[in-house]
Amino acid sequence: MKIVSGWHRLVFCLASIFLLTHLFSVMELHKNSKMEEPHKQLNKKFDHLVLGPAAGQGLSNRLQCQGTKALNRTYSSSSRSAEDGSITFITVFTIYNSSLNDVEDKSTNTIVGNASYNKFGRSMALLNVFINFIEVAMPQSNVIILTDPVSDLSVPQNRVSLYHIQGEYSRDKLMLQRIRSYITFLETRLQKLSQNPRNITHYIFTDSDIAVVDNLGQIFHDHPNFHLALTFRNNKAQPLNSGFIAVRGTPEAILRAKHFLQEVLKVYSTKYRNASRMLGDQLALAWVVKSKAHFDASRFAKALAFSEDIDGTSLLFLPCSLYNWTPPEGAGQFHGMPLDVKVVHFKGSRKRLMLESWNFYSSSLDISDMLCLILGSGRTKYDF
Ligand SMILES: *[C@@H]1O[C@H](CO)[C@@H](O)[C@H](O)[C@H]1NC(C)=O
Ligand SMILES: *[C@@H]1O[C@H](CO)[C@@H](O)[C@H](O)[C@H]1NC(C)=O
Ligand SMILES: *[C@@H]1O[C@H](CO)[C@@H](O)[C@H](O)[C@H]1NC(C)=O
Ligand SMILES: *[C@@H]1O[C@H](CO)[C@@H](O)[C@H](O)[C@H]1NC(C)=O
Ligand SMILES: *[C@@H]1O[C@H](CO)[C@@H](O)[C@H](O)[C@H]1NC(C)=O
Repeated sequence: MKIVSGWHRLVFCLASIFLLTHLFSVMELHKNSKMEEPHKQLNKKFDHLVLGPAAGQGLSNRLQCQGTKALNRTYSSSSRSAEDGSITFITVFTIYNSSLNDVEDKSTNTIVGNASYNKFGRSMALLNVFINFIEVAMPQSNVIILTDPVSDLSVPQNRVSLYHIQGEYSRDKLMLQRIRSYITFLETRLQKLSQNPRNITHYIFTDSDIAVVDNLGQIFHDHPNFHLALTFRNNKAQPLNSGFIAVRGTPEAILRAKHFLQEVLKVYSTKYRNASRMLGDQLALAWVVKSKAHFDASRFAKALAFSEDIDGTSLLFLPCSLYNWTPPEGAGQFHGMPLDVKVVHFKGSRKRLMLESWNFYSSSLDISDMLCLILGSGRTKYDF
């Protein structure tokens, strides 16, 4: 496939002294650890695809599957008419040069389909698949990779570009750096906009372990007034996930989004600094939102989009169940996959499934069937 080849070439052409490590999602490792106790077998990590029962069978608004055959169509081609050329995805991706031995050591390689990956190749393959899914779902959109100036990436693809941002990319500062990079990026856009105020591009900042499976242009179309959108779930301690943040491309929205993220950064560095490696940004996001008078956190209990004005910034809250879908780990309750899911998040130990899903899609060219594969195997823990 044309979209694959360029990136595969890139994987092997990159300077071999670099070991690349990605910035994937903030994992909620400990969240369900109690629940998992009686289900130790769930903690086994598999090096091959394991298909379990698909949750949500018999529920009318959930995807119905027979194995990996979808009985419902989820992928609405009509929604693709929304203009996606005005949307750019932003992700942070970093290379470390500390473990160059791993690149040579083939014994630690993992096999996915026909390919054998070292750690470096694995990370690149995941980034590659992240981009491939965007190209399928939103072929007119662009991708910008925010990265360390010492990360010697090059991107041969048309709609993918790199943006180097100076910063502290060490593993334990990465989440903090990510917010800083977002802020820096928004500042540069504000400058560009002041030269050409009519050239509006909307931005979606995401983790790179997600698959976009439907056109997201409708967020901006259906909710014309928000400045910044976040995804929420019914979880008291961590109601907001930082893996998906949408920003409208108008000067005012970008400015407000920038100020909002600056506040999150401040809370993060003062209150949650010790959590910076893992959950700090999500805790800081939730703190900033919940600390505002009038904010009704009980709205997180229902998976319905809602808006809220916070100090003049219009925030849109989108349900994770559609815009950041991931099956719960462990034995938590699980009602399957909504028919109109738009973004799948391969959190934690589901990264292999992300590559397997792309391979499956490449041969079936059917998003709905692929979603059945993900639904059936999304609770399996994989080996990377
Ligand atoms: C999904 O497919 C099942 C099985 O064919 C069918 O009974 C159900 O009505 C479909 N749901 C929707 C919303 O089309
Ligand atoms: C990694 O690369 C940078 C820039 O080339 C260099 O300054 C640094 O010393 C290297 N670190 C290690 C551990 O090799
Ligand atoms: C693996 O290689 C075979 C033979 O070259 C090819 O037919 C098949 O499509 C490949 N599978 C994947 C998942 O790339
Ligand atoms: C509009 O902005 C985008 C993103 O900044 C840029 O790629 C494009 O060239 C701009 N178009 C015009 C006509 O200035
Ligand atoms: C972070 O941890 C250090 C030592 O573990 C502690 O002294 C400090 O008070 C902690 N900071 C915050 C903000 O909790």
